[in-house]
Amino acid sequence: MNLQENITRIKKIIESINENNFEIEDSIFDYEGDLSNSMGLKIKNKKNDENFGHVVLCKLIYGLTKDPILKKYFDLDSKQNKIFNNENCLYLHDMFVEPIHRNKGIGKIVLKQAHNKALENGFDYIVLGTETDNLVANKLYNGFGYNEFLNPEEKYKFYYIKL
Ligand SMILES: CC(C)(COP(=O)(O)OP(=O)(O)OC[C@H]1O[C@@H](n2cnc3c(N)ncnc32)[C@H](O)[C@@H]1OP(=O)(O)O)[C@@H](O)C(=O)NCCC(=O)NCCS
Repeated sequence: MNLQENITRIKKIIESINENNFEIEDSIFDYEGDLSNSMGLKIKNKKNDENFGHVVLCKLIYGLTKDPILKKYFDLDSKQNKIFNNENCLYLHDMFVEPIHRNKGIGKIVLKQAHNKALENGFDYIVLGTETDNLVANKLYNGFGYNEFLNPEEKYKFYYIKL
């Protein structure tokens, strides 16, 4: 698949995510403030305020000072990672959908909202990581067109996307 075909495929996936299936509201929750540190994004049921899920975004370099896995396995100085800097790349972590609401497309909505938030704030890339055996998370990120980094170890892998 060439780049253009891949972009078209990803656009179609994103368009097919129908937020109207849910009474969705997104809100920023105070994780550590704003994107100068970390920002939490919560997806709620508009009707009754019930939480569907959330995710946290922070600048990659801030994540590197805080997140033990990122700290241990992500090599910012490698040639491949040189494209990422503190101003262009967000680190997405703590992605979570409430168990009773899983497998209904909410993970995709959470991710889409995170992408919107990153774009609104002028970022070009998102980096994230997950365990290799987390089948659903890997499916979700692959489906969105995230690219796998070289696997730093068998249990854990990172992905990035150009927004
Ligand atoms: C990973 C997680 C956020 C996904 O959220 P979700 O709302 O269930 O995901 P979606 O419904 O949007 O589904 C995403 C993809 O996974 C598939 N999927 C979801 N649940 C699945 C299941 N139990 N078995 C197989 N595939 C599944 C969906 O079919 C969809 O794939 P598709 O686009 O090819 O149809 C959620 O499972 C979760 O919170 N897990 C626990 C925390 C976690 O692992 N977070 C990620 C850490 S990096």
